Amino acid sequence: MGNNVIGFYDSGVGGLSVLKVALNKIKNKNFVFFGDTLRMPYGARTNEEIKNYTMEVMGFFEDLDVDLSIIACNTATSHGLKESNERYKYPIIGVVEPGSENALERTKTKRVALVATKSCVESGVYDKVLKSMDPSIELRSVYCPDLTLAIERGEFEEEYMDGIVKKYLDYFEDYDFDTMILGCTHYPLVEDSFKRILKKQGKKVLMVDPAYKTVLDAMNILKIEKDNQEIPNRTIDFYITGDINLFRSTMEKIVDLSDFKVSFHQVDIKDLEKYR
Ligand code: DGL
Repeated sequence: MGNNVIGFYDSGVGGLSVLKVALNKIKNKNFVFFGDTLRMPYGARTNEEIKNYTMEVMGFFEDLDVDLSIIACNTATSHGLKESNERYKYPIIGVVEPGSENALERTKTKRVALVATKSCVESGVYDKVLKSMDPSIELRSVYCPDLTLAIERGEFEEEYMDGIVKKYLDYFEDYDFDTMILGCTHYPLVEDSFKRILKKQGKKVLMVDPAYKTVLDAMNILKIEKDNQEIPNRTIDFYITGDINLFRSTMEKIVDLSDFKVSFHQVDIKDLEKYR
């Protein structure tokens, strides 16, 4: 067991959608969050780059002696989870399996829609994992690059966000599905926009945010009880590769961390190369 800390890793603010769920359920741990904002969007990166970045951050977290890391990024999970688990000895989990399990629990028609990044969609990882659990599942996927970037910039104005979401959901117009996986951790941050547009399209859809099942999995692995007791003076340390102020201004629109002792640390990506 490590330092009584759980690590969260994403390319940017998306991982906060997973951290938010954890804040509600896990009271007896401190948290560290790595946002690789200098190298985001991961969705436009090569598989090799994403794998290397993931290995670096998992090594960085190992040095911080975390109890467990959550790769709170579907794209990094797609290309870096397996290799990270092969190299590192401490527990590392991703969001794709929990998200897939949750989608299977929900769908009745077995027709599922996925919104994710380009890299995640092209990896076919959700298709593979879902079909390994239930071969009769049908999946249609769309990638939404503008959406990730708008969220990262903190542009949450309703009309603007709905316009972007609509552009992508129009691809599903002729697809009769009952469950949608928000397969990029940025997207649950604008789940209301998804719900509004789907409603306008006359679709009744159950949304899957992989964060919930992922956090439960982490609790199981670490044997954290449901009624775990809050420890005093909880801390969250943010490690950011890009502009800390930019990250912070979007973060403040997403999550209230006033109950925590929060610190920000600048990370130089050159210092991560040793973990490759
Ligand atoms: N939030 C990430 C994901 O879940 C990736 C966003 C990006 O950097 O493209 O896939």
